[in-house]
Amino acid sequence: MIKTLSNIFKQDKEKFVIPKGVQQAIPIQAVWADGIFQIGRNKFARTYKFVDINYAVASREDKEAMFLEYSELLNSFDSGATTKITINNRRLNRQDFEKAILIPMQEDGLDLYRKEYNAMLLEKATGANSIVQEKYVTVSVYKKSIEEARTYFSRIGTDLVSHFSRLGSKCVEMDATDKLRALHDFYRTGEETSFRFDLAETMRKGHSFKDFICPDSLEFEKDHFRMGNRYGRVLFLREYASYIKDNMIAELTDLSRNLMMSIDVIPIPTDEAVREVENRLLGVETNITNWQRKQNANNNFSAVVPYDMEQQRKESKEFLDDLTTRDQRMMFAVLTLVHTADTKEQLDADTDTLLTVARKHLCQFATLKYQQMDGLNTALPIGHRKINALRTLTTESLAVLMPFRVQEIMDEGGIYCGENAISHNLIMCNKAKLLNPNSFLLGVPGSGKSFSAKMLIVFLALATGDDILICDPEREYGSLIEAMGGEVIRIAAGSRDHINAMDMVEGYGDGGNPVIDKSEFVLSLFEQLDKKGVSAKEKSIIDRCTAAVYEDYQSGGNVPTLCRLREKMLEQPEREAKDLALALELFTSGSLDAFAHESNVDVNSRMIVYDIMDLGKQLKTMGLLVITDAMLNRVTENWKKGKRTHIFLDEFHVVFENEYSGAFFNSAWRRFRKRNAFPNAITQNVEYLLDSVLASTMLSNSEYIVMLNQAASDRQKLADLLNISNEQMSYITNADAGCGLIKYGSSLVPFINKFPKNTRLYRLMTTKPGEDSANRSR
Ligand SMILES: Nc1ncnc2c1ncn2[C@@H]1O[C@H](COP(=O)(O)OP(=O)(O)OP(=O)(O)O)[C@@H](O)[C@H]1O
Ligand SMILES: [Mg+2]
Repeated sequence: MIKTLSNIFKQDKEKFVIPKGVQQAIPIQAVWADGIFQIGRNKFARTYKFVDINYAVASREDKEAMFLEYSELLNSFDSGATTKITINNRRLNRQDFEKAILIPMQEDGLDLYRKEYNAMLLEKATGANSIVQEKYVTVSVYKKSIEEARTYFSRIGTDLVSHFSRLGSKCVEMDATDKLRALHDFYRTGEETSFRFDLAETMRKGHSFKDFICPDSLEFEKDHFRMGNRYGRVLFLREYASYIKDNMIAELTDLSRNLMMSIDVIPIPTDEAVREVENRLLGVETNITNWQRKQNANNNFSAVVPYDMEQQRKESKEFLDDLTTRDQRMMFAVLTLVHTADTKEQLDADTDTLLTVARKHLCQFATLKYQQMDGLNTALPIGHRKINALRTLTTESLAVLMPFRVQEIMDEGGIYCGENAISHNLIMCNKAKLLNPNSFLLGVPGSGKSFSAKMLIVFLALATGDDILICDPEREYGSLIEAMGGEVIRIAAGSRDHINAMDMVEGYGDGGNPVIDKSEFVLSLFEQLDKKGVSAKEKSIIDRCTAAVYEDYQSGGNVPTLCRLREKMLEQPEREAKDLALALELFTSGSLDAFAHESNVDVNSRMIVYDIMDLGKQLKTMGLLVITDAMLNRVTENWKKGKRTHIFLDEFHVVFENEYSGAFFNSAWRRFRKRNAFPNAITQNVEYLLDSVLASTMLSNSEYIVMLNQAASDRQKLADLLNISNEQMSYITNADAGCGLIKYGSSLVPFINKFPKNTRLYRLMTTKPGEDSANRSR
C-alpha cells in the first residue's frame, strides 16, 4: 500500500469506546478560541469558511478558468494532512427571517401600506426555498502539540486564502464560536436562535462546550439515526461514473433540506504515486507477457491481447502520463452526505431523491450500514474521516466535484431587492456595506427602472427614518410620495413654488470656504445663460458680487437671492457688470424667475419630489443645477444631524445633455458618499451614458448597478464594461419587467422581482396607461 495512506490509517486508528452519553458521541476533545479543535490524540483540525462564486452562470471560458484554478487549489493541499470540503445546506429559521425582513407597524396612518408590503415579502419568503448554503474547508493534521498545530495552520491558512481569492471567492478562518454554531445548527435544527456560547464564561464555570451544542439524544440504527426528534441518514458515494458532469454536486445539494456533504481528500506525494502506478503498470505488463507466452506455448502465435488486459494497460499508462506530464496529483477521496428530516417517511423519500440524482449522473450512492455514527462524524466539518471507502482519483477528476454554484446576496440589515433567479433565495442588499453606495438603474423604457426605484422608496419610507429626495422629470412619483406623507415641489416657469438658488447651509461645499464653492456654483449658472461662455473679467465680477451678497447677509442684511445678486451687479462700476445684470434679468424679474426668490416651499419635509416636468427647455439645465445644489444643501444638513439621505434622479441622461450639469453631478456624486447620502441614477440610455467620459466613470465607480432588460447594443457595451458572461447576458435579454441582473460589489446575480398587481401600492407606482390613474389625475 502507498506509504502516506498506510501512515494515515495507522494514525487514525483509535480505540473504540462506547459513548456513555450524547456528549461523548461528539468526537471533539478540546477547543481553542481561535478555532483549532483537538479531535483525537495529537490530531488537530481547523475550519475555514469560503463564499460561493458564480459558477453556474459563467461562460464556458470562465468555467474552464475556474476549473483549472480549482484544480490548482486541490493540488495545493498538503499531503501529510486530510482536507475536507463541506457544503452545509441550512434552512433559514423562519421566525428569525421574518423578524429580519418584515416592517414593524408604527401606527402613523401608513400601516395599511406596511401590511401590503409585508404580505408581498412573506409570499416571496415562503415561495423561496429559504435554504442557504455555507461552504467550509477543514484541514486536519497530526502534530505533537497545539503550538506546532497553530504554526502549521497559519501557514496553510494564508495559502488557502490566496488560492480562494484567485478563484474570486473569499476564505476566512472560523473561530471556535462560529464553528460550534455551525455544529449546533445541525445538531439542533430549528433552535438556531437559542445558540449562546461564551468561551471565557464556559471556562470560568467549568462547563463543557459540548453541552451547548449536543442534541438531546443520538441513537444509531442500522441504516439511519435519530437525533433529538429528527431522523438522519448518512450516504456515501460508492460508484463513480467515468465521466461526471461538473453540476452533480450542485444538483445533489439543491435539495431543500438540511444536509451536509463532505469530500475528504488525501493527496499523495507525486513520487510515491508514480512509483505505485509504475508498479501497477509493471504488473499489468507481466500479466500480458505471461499470457502471450502461454499462447505461444500452445502454438498460437497470432493471438491478440484480450480487451481487459489492453484496457488495464492503457488506463495505467494514461494515469502515469497524467502524473508525470500533466501536473496532476493522485488523490484519495471519499464523499459522504448526511441529510435529516422530521419523519422517517420524509427521510426515506429524500434518500430516494438523492439516489435518483446520483443515478442520473451514473454514480451510485449507498447507505452506510452499521456505520452511521462514523459516517456522521465524517460528514460533519469536524475533521474526522472514519469511512475508508476511498477512491483513487486524479486532481482533474476530483475537481469535477465542483462545490461552487452561485453567489448569494444576503446582508445583515439588508433591503429586499428581488429573488435570486438561480437559487430562489431573497436578495437582501445593504448598500452601507459596499465601498460606495452609488447606484445606477439601467434598462430599456418600460423595463421597470422607475418601478424598482419606487419599491425601494416605499421600503425606505415605511421602514426607516431616512430622508428621500427625488428629481422627477416625468411626474410619476408625486402620488406615491404624497401617499407616504411627503412633499411635492413643482418647479416651472411661472409656478408658485420657488426654490432659492443662493440658499446655503453651514458646511456647504467640499469642506473649504463655502462662499468660494457657492461662487463657483453661481459661475456655472452664468455659464448656462450664455453659450459663448463667461469671460475672465465677468468671472471676477460674479465672484466679487457673490461674496458681497453673502457678506451683507452676515452683517444682518437680506437673504441672498439671485435678485440681490443682480442688484449688487448694478451697483458695480464696470460696464460688464451691467451686461451681466441684464443677462440675469430674465431669470430674476422676467418670466423664468423660479429660482430667484426666497424658498416658499416646505423644504424640510422628510420626503421631497422635485417635479420638473414643466420646466421648459430654457430652464432645464439651470433647474437641474439648482435642484442638485438644494439636494447637496440638504445632504450636508442631514449629515450634520447624523441622518442618511437617499437621492433618486430619474431620466439621468438629461443631466449629461449639458457639460456643466454633468460636471456638477460628477463632483456631487463624490461628495454624496462622504456625506452619508445614497444616490440612485436612473436612465435608459446606456450608450449615451457611456459616450460621456464623466458618466462612464460614474458608472464604473458605482458599486450597485441594477440592469433590467437591455437593448442589444447597450447589452454589449455593458458586458464589456462590467465583464458579464453570455450566460448572465441571457438574464437581461428579453427579460420581463422588473427582472434582470444586479451588480452588487463584485457579485453579479440574476434576479426576479415581481410586485403583485392587486395592491394599493402597485396602483401608486405603475406608469402603465390604464393603470396609472393616480398619477394621471395630478
Ligand atoms: N417589479 C415589477 N413588478 C410588476 N410590474 C412591474 C415591475 N416593474 C415594472 N412593472 C410594470 O412595468 C411598467 C413600466 O415600468 P416603469 O415605469 O418602471 O418603466 P421605466 O423602465 O421607468 O420606463 P421609462 O424609461 O419609460 O421611464 C410599470 O408601470 C409596471 O406596470
Ligand atoms: Mg421611468
